Amino acid sequence: MSTNTASALSAAASLLRQARRIVCLTGSGVSAESGVATFRNVENGLWARFDPQRLATQEGFAANPGLVWQWYMHRLDAVEQAQPNPGHSALAELEHRLPVFTLVTQNVDDLHERSGSRHVLHLHGRINRFHCNVCGFDHDLRSSERRATAPPRCIACGGAVRPSVVWFGEPLPHRLLDKAWQASERCDLFLVVGTSGLVYPAAQLPLLAQQHGAPIIDINPEVTPLSEQAEIHLAGRSGALLPRLLELLGKET
Ligand code: OAD
Repeated sequence: MSTNTASALSAAASLLRQARRIVCLTGSGVSAESGVATFRNVENGLWARFDPQRLATQEGFAANPGLVWQWYMHRLDAVEQAQPNPGHSALAELEHRLPVFTLVTQNVDDLHERSGSRHVLHLHGRINRFHCNVCGFDHDLRSSERRATAPPRCIACGGAVRPSVVWFGEPLPHRLLDKAWQASERCDLFLVVGTSGLVYPAAQLPLLAQQHGAPIIDINPEVTPLSEQAEIHLAGRSGALLPRLLELLGKET
């Protein structure tokens, strides 16, 4: 594992330049510089301040639907007020520049899309989409429904509408996971950005790629289990390092 020296950055740029099929997995760290909270930061992470059992499970929703609804709508407001940062923009630019670039995110925000990424696999769902918790019917909501203190009722079956995010104990969207899995098996470089690498199956993807021979580049100010496995760990913020990588890539191509 090499870390954040000029030579590690240049080695990362050279791997990117040679690669033909790249997969990138992002986590909440990529949106941290946009002011969106991460999960496991001990001071201000969401799971340090709120109980995931009460807010991100079927049991929690059944016990207190209003609390869960208002919590997600509050998070959605924060996401809508946030702006993409240079890390998001650099990833969008990489998608345009590199031959095959699959962006897989654990993030439920839309900051990748808003910075120009066109094909994003949202493994953990999307906070600005809604469906019925009972029959699965998709819903577009009016702002008055979003502001309500309780979840809206489904127009098809009367069940409670919920945000289309994956809760603990729920399966990931199969089709997206299959795509991410296949891309990881076939890629020749795996870029990990801003994730603690503690949540599976997302954290399995870079390891799967590595088993198939692809090196891992990890960008994270902290050392995670994935940084330890990575060929290159760039220790720093994605909003600073991704644009530098892009710049080096431009120079070397
Ligand atoms: P975590 O909070 O577990 O990890 C965020 C990571 O981002 C940490 O390793 C930080 O060091 C890193 N980080 C912070 N600021 C950064 C920056 N500016 N640049 C780069 N990295 C930075 O969040 P996730 O790994 O996204 O799942 O968590 C994975 C899943 O756990 C989430 O999708 C969510 C949560 O439970 C669901 O809700 C299903």
